[in-house]
Amino acid sequence: MTVRLASVWNTAPTSAPAQRKDRYVPGSAAHPAKMLPILAAHAILAYTHAGETVLDPMCGIGTTLVEAIHHGRNALGVEYEPKWAHLARRNADSAMLDGGNGHGSVACGDARDLPALIPAEHHGKIAFVLTSPPYGPSDHGQVRSSRDSGQPGVTKRNFRYSHDPHNLAHIPTDALLDAFTDILTQCRRVLRPGGTVVVTTRPWRERGELIDLPSAALAAGEAAGLVPTERNVALLAGIRDSQLIPRPSFFQMKNVRDARRQGTPLHLIAHEDVIVLKAPPGPGSSPPSKHAHRTHARTRRCASRKPVTTAVFRSRSCTGGGDRADR
Ligand SMILES: C[S@@+](CC[C@H](N)C(=O)[O-])C[C@H]1O[C@@H](n2cnc3c(N)ncnc32)[C@H](O)[C@@H]1O
Repeated sequence: MTVRLASVWNTAPTSAPAQRKDRYVPGSAAHPAKMLPILAAHAILAYTHAGETVLDPMCGIGTTLVEAIHHGRNALGVEYEPKWAHLARRNADSAMLDGGNGHGSVACGDARDLPALIPAEHHGKIAFVLTSPPYGPSDHGQVRSSRDSGQPGVTKRNFRYSHDPHNLAHIPTDALLDAFTDILTQCRRVLRPGGTVVVTTRPWRERGELIDLPSAALAAGEAAGLVPTERNVALLAGIRDSQLIPRPSFFQMKNVRDARRQGTPLHLIAHEDVIVLKAPPGPGSSPPSKHAHRTHARTRRCASRKPVTTAVFRSRSCTGGGDRADR
C-alpha cells in the first residue's frame, strides 16, 4: 500500500462562523461537530468534476451537500438524527435557491443501510464520498456567559448530537469503528468503480491517552475493501505572516490549559487529517445484487473481516487527565 503524504490545505483562512455566514440557514450552528465549508469545497473541487454525484452518509447539517450544490455537483446525504436531516434538507434547498447548479436530497436513517436509503438509479454511479465520523462524549459546544444566560458562571450549549444511545457518537469507540467500517463497505457498494472516498477526522485524548482516530479510519477503509491513496492535512488554524493562527474553541483551550497546569504538555490540535481512499476499479465495487440488499442487514454482523479496534491506536505517552480535543 502506498499512501502519499500529499498536501496541506489552507481551509481556515477565516473562522467557521464567517465561512457559514449567509450560506447556511439559522439553527445550523447548533450541530456540535460540523465540517469547515472550505474543507468540503476544497475536497469536492479536488476530486470531482461538475455534474458528478457526491454522497455524505453522515451528513449532519449538510455541509457536503451545500458546497457540492454551489459548485455544480449533485449531492445525496444520509443522516441518522431527524433534526439534523431536516436542517440538511433546508440547507440544500437554500443552496439550490441561491443559484447553486447542483441538486441535493437527504434521507433520514442509519447509514449502515445505505443502499436502501439511496435511490437505485444512483447505485454504482456515485463519484465521490465525503464524510466525517462522529465521536462520543466531548467538549464540543459553545459557551454562554452569565451576562447572556442570567445564570452564575459559564454554561455550555449545543454540545450534543442527541440523546439517542444508538447514534454512533454515543457508543464505545471500538463499536464506532466497527460501524464505520460497515458504512464504508456500503459506500463502496454504491460508488462507481474507481470512485473516491475522503474521510476527515482528528485524534482526541481520553484520560491522557491519544486515540489516533485518523489511523483507525484509514484501517476501517481498508477493512471495507477501499484502497488508501493519500493522507493530507486540512488546517483548522489560519495563516498570517507564515505563522499558524489557532482558532480553538473555549473548551479546547480550557482542556489544554488544565492539562498543562497538571504537568501534561498538551498542544492545541490545529488540523484535521484527510484520508483519501479509492474504490477498486473492477467488479469489486459494482452495485450489490437484490439478494445482497435483502441479506445485508442480517449478515453484516457476521462479516469475516477483522474488526478495527482502538487497541492499536492508543498511545500512552500522556499520563495526565487530558480530555477530548474539540472539533
Ligand atoms: C461529525 S458529524 C457530521 C457533520 C457534517 N459533516 C456537517 O458538516 O454537518 C457526524 C454525524 O453522523 C451522524 N450519525 C451518527 N450515527 C449515524 C448513523 N448510524 N447513520 C448516519 N448518520 C449517523 C450524527 O448524528 C452526526 O450528525
